[in-house]
Amino acid sequence: MKIKRIAHLGIAVKDLDPPKKLYCDQLNLESQGEEVVSAQKVKVSFIKVGETSLELLLPTAADSPVAKFLENKGEGIHHLALEVEDIDAAVEELKAAGVRLIDEKPREGAHGSRVAFLHPKSTFGVLLELVQYAEPH
Ligand code: CO
Repeated sequence: MKIKRIAHLGIAVKDLDPPKKLYCDQLNLESQGEEVVSAQKVKVSFIKVGETSLELLLPTAADSPVAKFLENKGEGIHHLALEVEDIDAAVEELKAAGVRLIDEKPREGAHGSRVAFLHPKSTFGVLLELVQYAEPH
């Protein structure tokens, strides 16, 4: 498989506005808009940082995986997303290699992307997301 770059760092937050104020007003970064990803029960806000971005994650339901993360660990870095050229091939390759996946099949992500999460038990404690964008992003 070919990994192209770090697509984004996902950061779990309890409210979108205070961290947006920090990153956009105090750190002079550029907001790339917000989107509700209903499949993952989160509202996301992207902030551009050079070739990559930050993905602020706000849960939209009590049973959102991000809500559970906030309960257990509080706000902070939630996952690392790597952009791949071909997510179907990447998922098959990892399964064949015995790597545990949370998503056995890619599912819908933000901005029309397709994503698949690897299991932290297989990735040394880091929740890794593979993402493939429909268009350059
Ligand atoms: Co993400």
